[in-house]
Amino acid sequence: MSAHITIAITGGRALSPSLELLASIGIAPTEEISKSRKLVFDTSQKNLKLMVLRGMDVATYVEHGIADLGMSGKDVLLEHGGNGYYEPLDLGIVRCQIVVAGLKDEGELPPRPKIATKFVNIAKRYYAAKGVQVDIIKLYGAMELAPVTGLAHRIVDIVETGNTLKANGLVSLELIEEISTRLIVNKISFKTRHSVVQPLIDKLEAATA
Ligand code: PRP
Repeated sequence: MSAHITIAITGGRALSPSLELLASIGIAPTEEISKSRKLVFDTSQKNLKLMVLRGMDVATYVEHGIADLGMSGKDVLLEHGGNGYYEPLDLGIVRCQIVVAGLKDEGELPPRPKIATKFVNIAKRYYAAKGVQVDIIKLYGAMELAPVTGLAHRIVDIVETGNTLKANGLVSLELIEEISTRLIVNKISFKTRHSVVQPLIDKLEAATA
């Protein structure tokens, strides 16, 4: 295990609120992440590095102990379904919802509707729990297009402002889960590096309280 502590964070829209939170506990990258093509960054704290990953990969890096801690959306944690990490804190940032959405004027659904989503596991679990049979169609983005074009009857997707749904003539129909960014910690790191990891958790907890 390396001497330094690594925190994996998510690029894209989660990047700046994550960096703001870290800055509030005195951790700042030594160069501007959004202007760099690098993926690992030194910080103002010696022995603490930041790794900038795709959302779906944060849990994987933490689970395998490559990163000691991670800041990850609950949506991707639910989809990932992994173990090997603890989830000690709700960081309360990047709040959104996972919903079922459909066309505003959708007609009657067939007995086994098609559901387009990138959250295949979340959608499967949700419909299984409801006892509703569906066909899941895996997409990687622009989910809203699926009901509009007839690829699927409904979608399971993230809604933050609701602007994307509205712009495409869709409405939110069922709430699946309230989402926010969570702190995750590799189980081994939590034990073997407790003297460094626990104070970080405590500071983040105080900063988000
Ligand atoms: C997400 C989601 C919606 C949009 C919702 O996509 O898939 O398309 O945000 O946000 P809104 O309610 O504020 O309009 P994102 O921009 O993360 O890109 P993605 O297609 O890569 O998931």
